[in-house]
Amino acid sequence: MTKRLVFLGPPGVGKGTQAKRVAEEHGIPHISTGDILREEVRQETDLGKQAKSHMDSGGLVPDELVVAMVARRLEQDDCRDGYLLDGFPRTIGQAHAFENEIGGDDDPGVDKVLYFAAPDEVLIRRLGGRRTCPSCQAVYHVETMPPKEDNLCDRCGAELVQREDDQPDAIKQRLRTYRELTEELIGHYRQAGTLVEINSTGSVEQVAELVRRALAT
Ligand code: AP5
Repeated sequence: MTKRLVFLGPPGVGKGTQAKRVAEEHGIPHISTGDILREEVRQETDLGKQAKSHMDSGGLVPDELVVAMVARRLEQDDCRDGYLLDGFPRTIGQAHAFENEIGGDDDPGVDKVLYFAAPDEVLIRRLGGRRTCPSCQAVYHVETMPPKEDNLCDRCGAELVQREDDQPDAIKQRLRTYRELTEELIGHYRQAGTLVEINSTGSVEQVAELVRRALAT
């Protein structure tokens, strides 16, 4: 059963957009480390205070903080029959910690890793036009997925905002961070035989169809 999933890929490639749909279709929790960390920042918890500067500048939150946070989340009852990890693991250190803490020698804790790929110009366009709802976390795009009413969330009516790390300098740094620290996970999971590559340059529906096919096998 393919119910323990990891969504891997560069910033803005559409992981979160697809993850929400898949989690709903498969009845598994969508665990986005970015969303959890943003909520910690919003609530000004100790973790949020430690994470904020790393996130705003486009760097990564230290491995030990993120691994502990994910391990806590995976202990919850709703993860018993599977989970979709979006944005974790993001370094080889996180992958090893995850394998040691969650799985074991014969069970790495992951059934399938979907690696979403798109050229940088697509990523930059998607990130630059993204708007998010600070209240219910819905995600929009000024061109490809605009809200019905200008700059207001369709679901809850709150005013949409641009994420701090979707500013041009932070986007550049996030892409650099991805190349330096995350990209090597592609080889790691390919070697493990769990990686499936998804061409994420098409429309949301086109990508969703590729995801459906990848998860059906
Ligand atoms: P996180 O929130 O995980 O950011 P990310 O990985 O950079 O991914 P994004 O959320 O930016 O993009 P996405 O791929 O989900 O794209 P989306 O679907 O929104 O992490 C933020 C920060 O938290 C990190 O930089 C780091 O500091 C920290 N962090 C998180 N996890 C960590 C970890 N494990 N370790 C350490 N630090 C961690 O789509 C983007 C836009 O494009 C949207 O506007 C959407 O509407 C649009 N769109 C999506 N798909 C399509 C499509 N097919 N066609 C047209 N438009 C599309």
